[in-house]
Amino acid sequence: MKTFYIETFGCQMNAHDSEKVVGTLVQQGYEQVQTPDQAELVLYNTCSIRDKAEQKVFHRLDQFKRASGKGKVFGVIGCVAQQEGEKIFERAPHVSLVAGSASYTKLPELLVQLENGDRRVTGLSLDNSEPFDTPFTRRDNPHRAYITIIEGCDKACAYCVVPFTRGPERSRTSESVLNEARSLTELGYTEVQLLGQNVNSYRDSSPAGWDFARLLAKTGEVPGMRRVRFTTSHPRDFVKPIVDAIDENETLCNHVHLPVQSGSTAVLDRMQRLYTRDIYMRCIDWIKNSHRDIAITTDIIVGFPGETESDFQQTIRLIEEVEYDAMFIFKYSRRPNTSALQYEDHIPEEEKTRRFNVLQERQRALQIARNARYVGTTQQVHVEGFNIATSQWIGRTNQNKMLNFMDSRLPSPSNGETLVGQYLDVLVTRSSPNSLAGERAWRQ
Ligand code: 5AD
Ligand code: SF4
Repeated sequence: MKTFYIETFGCQMNAHDSEKVVGTLVQQGYEQVQTPDQAELVLYNTCSIRDKAEQKVFHRLDQFKRASGKGKVFGVIGCVAQQEGEKIFERAPHVSLVAGSASYTKLPELLVQLENGDRRVTGLSLDNSEPFDTPFTRRDNPHRAYITIIEGCDKACAYCVVPFTRGPERSRTSESVLNEARSLTELGYTEVQLLGQNVNSYRDSSPAGWDFARLLAKTGEVPGMRRVRFTTSHPRDFVKPIVDAIDENETLCNHVHLPVQSGSTAVLDRMQRLYTRDIYMRCIDWIKNSHRDIAITTDIIVGFPGETESDFQQTIRLIEEVEYDAMFIFKYSRRPNTSALQYEDHIPEEEKTRRFNVLQERQRALQIARNARYVGTTQQVHVEGFNIATSQWIGRTNQNKMLNFMDSRLPSPSNGETLVGQYLDVLVTRSSPNSLAGERAWRQ
């Protein structure tokens, strides 16, 4: 029996890719182990979205080498693998396999080549025609399952490496997506998350020709399905029928992650985001006019080249206007191959940090107010676990908010009894900027 260890960095797409890699290897007779030193094959699934993530890769590869001795095969997969290709062999000579996300179905073949004596093997093709349906997926989470619906990205945001690391857009057929959703509910899953770099540009490659809103609605109708989420959206391709679908189908979660990146149209233009502040706010209006209380979250980049104080103030005003439920803030980081490298008016690091802190503080205050609105309401949670330190069950609301709660009848898991996986009503009694807390509600 051959053993392997895998470590994953990056977004949900990467986490799900690792599940596909694990499934593929297990199918080949490999056994997954929990530490690198137990493994004959050590795989590292990498992210290159920002420079820091990329630097970590080489540091970690070095640690692996020092900690785990001779005779092992080291492989780098994912976005840094695709971006750096064979250069990885120069920077980390102990690595003998480099493969990007479009090549995971070929991993068994590449490993055989290594066994047959090849010193170094690569899988770096980003060919459009490569199938990305992976028949074997070993899912980590028994309650929420990821389903890839579209791979790659055809946008050209000036700061972003993804088009280079994940290639052009390829949509799966609606039939294949729905088959996967059905087989998941048959296995007992009740919650799925549809994944893609830009799910809104999903285009069914079969004659049915469904768009994303249709696929979303149909996934929500799969028997046994209780919650459908999706990420990530691009405002340029976000259309009202997506909100209509959420409006009409309770199974579709009331949460939209809609990255704005900046509140200034001038900056958005330089970022090549293909929308203005007004177009973005129109999407927000559709969402806010829904009869459901849809949570909105976003990503923001501070310190993009040329971002003036006045541009930054427009971002602050935008977040005050939208009142996001959560926000991921990033300092602009220069990435290889991207068109923003041409800009010269870079923002000093200290100024990026200042803007980051100002934005974070403002958002924190907004989240305090936003979450306080839920105190006194009853929310349905999907229970994900139990926190021993706080003696609370961990649940997630439909809006994707964490809601930790006590249950007087089952204060902790006991005699094999657990609430994990159940959908329960919880009365919210307290709120904080990043989560809610409460008590299990009992019907009278
Ligand atoms: N620098 C900083 N943040 C970035 N992101 C993408 N590329 C960069 C970059 N070069 C952020 C965007 C995106 C999120 C996933 O990461 O906000 O939405
Ligand atoms: Fe990182 Fe982007 Fe690759 Fe995800 S797609 S792993 S965020 S570089």
